[in-house]
Amino acid sequence: MSKAQFPGRIVVESTARKAAAFVADLVRSIICQVVGDSGSCSVALVGGTTPHALYQQFARSAVSDAVPWHETDIYFGDERDVSHDHVDSNFHMAQRTLLDHIPVNPARVHPMPADCGDLERAAARYEQLIRGNIPVGGGDIPRFDLILLGMGGDGHTASLFPFTDALDETERLVVSHFIPVLGRERMTFTFPLINAARNILLLVTGEDKAEAIAALVGDDEKARGKLPVSRVRPADGRLVMALDAAAARLANLRA
Ligand code: 6PG
Repeated sequence: MSKAQFPGRIVVESTARKAAAFVADLVRSIICQVVGDSGSCSVALVGGTTPHALYQQFARSAVSDAVPWHETDIYFGDERDVSHDHVDSNFHMAQRTLLDHIPVNPARVHPMPADCGDLERAAARYEQLIRGNIPVGGGDIPRFDLILLGMGGDGHTASLFPFTDALDETERLVVSHFIPVLGRERMTFTFPLINAARNILLLVTGEDKAEAIAALVGDDEKARGKLPVSRVRPADGRLVMALDAAAARLANLRA
């Protein structure tokens, strides 16, 4: 895949801060437009460290004032097997950096229940919640208005790691699974749910992502195929990948 074949738009900014600002602006315009059109907007947040800069933009900037947060439903694309107040929890991170600072309706914030005994059942419950709340598109799959994603240096996205069975899941929309490289369970959206979204924004910054990004947009099909993120291919939606110069450094992004 060359850049021309990437199933979406690629934007490279000089710094991580600028890449986050670009994504913040897109998030704002998507939420404003969807709420204007239909009265509410469903958003799945991303975990990890990269989105701190994005969430902080909303937490302290006037950009946030224009966002109808009260009409926005917040979900999570993946979660670690810890309690919601644990330092590793994606919900905890989002709460600290974003949710505590914006006027969301607490009843519309839906953390993944990844801290209970039976994680498989918890994943099925989260899927039911999504099915109950979010209208389906083609293929009977709920269509999020916006899913935010990141990428690890090994090409994982959400908690869909290389060489795990969850990559090939076609039925379940949310799964909990053991990830050998982490030695832990994670709960995660699967590709059928991700790829049904109206908008997917992938924010990837930092030198440690450069090799994977080069493989993702490069011509070596085998190398690309090993990256779970290469399976992000919206069926009928928009994909935008925002990079900083460090993450884009090894990639050939000409045309
Ligand atoms: C998580 C994620 C995961 C993340 C990547 C990148 O819970 O960790 O949702 O997919 O986006 O691991 O993580 P960093 O932003 O920390 O590099």
